[in-house]
Order: sequence, then C-alpha cells, then structure tokens
Amino acid sequence: MTVSIQRTGCYALVLGVCLGRKPDCLTVWYPEELGGTGLTKAIYPGSFDPVTLGHLDLIRRSSTLFDSLVVAVTNNRVKQPLFTLEERVAMLQEVTADIEGVQVDSFSGLLVDYARSKGAQIVLRGLRAISDFEYEFQMALTNRKIDPVVNTVFMMPSEEFSYLSSSIIREIASLGGDVTPFVPAPVVEKLRQKFPG
Ligand code: COA
Repeated sequence: MTVSIQRTGCYALVLGVCLGRKPDCLTVWYPEELGGTGLTKAIYPGSFDPVTLGHLDLIRRSSTLFDSLVVAVTNNRVKQPLFTLEERVAMLQEVTADIEGVQVDSFSGLLVDYARSKGAQIVLRGLRAISDFEYEFQMALTNRKIDPVVNTVFMMPSEEFSYLSSSIIREIASLGGDVTPFVPAPVVEKLRQKFPG
C-alpha cells in the first residue's frame, strides 16, 4: 500500500511541477487537516432504498481501489423511503460484512460536510447510463465548488446491473414479483416482510 501511495504522490508531484506549481500542491491530494494519514478514503453516498446487486457490485469493485470505503446512507429529500435509515444501514452492513475495508454509516446534511468530517477526499458515484450523467455532473461540480478538496470519482457497474434501480425493485416487490435476481438474499427477505402476501 505504501508503494501505491508513494507512486500516486510522485504523479502528483510531477503533475504539479509540469503545471509550474509548487510541490505544496500535494496538500490538495493529501490534506493533512482531513486526517493526515495520506490514505485514500472514499465515501459512497446514496439512499440505498434498498441496496441492490448493482450497488453491491460497485462496492466490491471500488473496495479494491481505495484504502477504505464508507458507504453512507442518507435520506434524499425528494424521495419517500420505504425502509428507515436504520433498516437500510443494517441491510448494507449485513451484505458488505465480507468485504474488507468497507464501513457503513449514515448522515444528514451536506455530503461535502460529511466527507470532510470523515477525512475523505473522494466521493464515489455509479454511472449506469447516459441518463445518469446530467444529474451526476451537476452534483459533482456543485460539491467541488462548495469544497474543492472533495472530488467525485465515477465507476460503472457491471452491464448486467446497469438497468437496475431501487425504485424498480420496490415496485416489483410491492406487486408480488420475484426480486431474487436483483437484490442480495437478506434484502429479498426484508422486502417480503414489507409486502407480505
Ligand atoms: N446499481 C443499482 N442502482 C443504482 C446504482 C447501482 N450501481 N447506482 C445508483 N442506483 C440507483 C439507486 O438505486 C437510485 O434509484 P431510485 O432513484 O430508484 O431510488 C438512483 O440510482 C439514484 O441513486 P442514489 O445513489 O440512491 O442517489 P440518490 O439520488 O438517492 O442520492 C445523494 C444522491 C444522496 C448523493 C444526494 O442526494 C446527496 O448528496 N444528498 C446530501 C445533501 C447534499 O449534499 N446535497 C447537495 C448535493 S450537490
């Protein structure tokens, strides 16, 4: 791990020099006031109502890229959630328990404030299709304007999950359909409890 940090630091240094910036530009990459460990910490925020196999695919892929990943559950103001914040956190904890370096948490308020409080410089978001882009682009740029230290990294889920969304799964479950191909097993059970019979 030390090697990759040193290598990234070198790239940053070379880039800084190429751009004619002082080496202290490195502080932008590794802000000491945000924890100062130099380790890469990312936040994966979302409503996760509920977590899907698409989310889980992204969590697994990204967990190998960062030293630590915090999956951060929040209430999206424009959505009426099916599961409480606590239920969503518990489901995520259960389905990510075997993935090294992943923690699950919840937050309220601004994402950038939460990222800063956690010492994270990276916000991870999934891009499933072009239709996600405009909204994600707006959020990423707004977040960076509010806090220039926080950068958004986008990853694509596996194509087999690129059409999934939590609301589609809620709809299938509410109409008595089978959601086993779309969500982890513990979530299938929780959805059954929400929509019995
Ligand atoms: N697989 C499957 N589905 C996925 C997915 C993936 N890899 N990635 C995203 N989705 C789906 C989600 O299930 C969700 O579906 P739904 O709309 O049917 O519920 C949809 O895509 C949206 O993704 P989600 O990750 O849930 O984002 P969100 O839009 O609910 O939340 C926040 C966005 C939480 C990041 C944003 O509201 C936020 O930052 N809030 C904090 C307040 C703040 O800082 N606001 C200013 C932002 S500029």
